[in-house]
Amino acid sequence: MAQFKLPANSRVKPGKDHGGAKDAPNKREFQVYRYDPATGENPSVDQYSIDMDECGPMVLDALITIKNEIDPTLSFRRSCREGICGSCAMNIDGTNTLACLKPVEEVKGPVRIYPLPHMPVVRDLVPDLTNFYAQYASVKPWLEAKTPPPPDRERLQSKEDQEKINDPSACILCACCSTSCPSYWWNSDRYLGPAALLQAYRWIVDSRDESTGDRLDALEDPFRLYRCHTILNCTKACPKDLNPGKAIAEIKKMMTDRQH
Ligand code: SF4
Ligand code: SF4
Ligand code: FES
Repeated sequence: MAQFKLPANSRVKPGKDHGGAKDAPNKREFQVYRYDPATGENPSVDQYSIDMDECGPMVLDALITIKNEIDPTLSFRRSCREGICGSCAMNIDGTNTLACLKPVEEVKGPVRIYPLPHMPVVRDLVPDLTNFYAQYASVKPWLEAKTPPPPDRERLQSKEDQEKINDPSACILCACCSTSCPSYWWNSDRYLGPAALLQAYRWIVDSRDESTGDRLDALEDPFRLYRCHTILNCTKACPKDLNPGKAIAEIKKMMTDRQH
């Protein structure tokens, strides 16, 4: 059987034990991926002990405690700490999720924290999302309409039409879905992935938009849309309970319907 190994400079090495609250009765161990390309060293997994009696309940609280009290060199993104900004997405205990919404007590044993998978790493838990955002921009996530709006009010929608865009508009672009999608892992240069496709869908079904045909034309491509094989990892991963897999299936159905 073929054996595959990471290139030598990508293999994760055992890291440093930074100590912390080793003797606290309510301590938890955290194993955190570390990588600093400036050093030229391989990535490693470092260990930290936190006294949960002195720390908030979420994984993000633990990371902030590590950074503030044990190791200021640890890098990660966060902003809102309430599941709104999407910036604290990472892989915790083997699952992509938001660190600010993930209770430490849901994890059994050491809490293993890695960056979102299959993305280039800028440093530690910070992935490079340049390609992800460029793909989002490529679906033109804005209203396109040649008809001018009514002079005395905004463009109105029926309640039914508004409900079609409700869920997809709640996407926070955290990238948990795209980075859990095997098709995206292997073809992220050409396949748009579930997050960008959910946003494409959001504008395709918007009753006020007048570029529906052009939007579908732009997705008519063997890779951009059709690399989705309905594996549905994306929907399972979404921390906002959205359903990008269903949205992609509906775009494919629209593609078929317009040929008849
Ligand atoms: S349903 Fe499509 S987008 Fe979602 S994980 Fe599967 S292949 Fe990826
Ligand atoms: S669909 Fe869900 S998982 Fe994907 S980017 Fe949006 S909020 Fe994140
Ligand atoms: S810090 Fe904003 S979603 Fe977690």
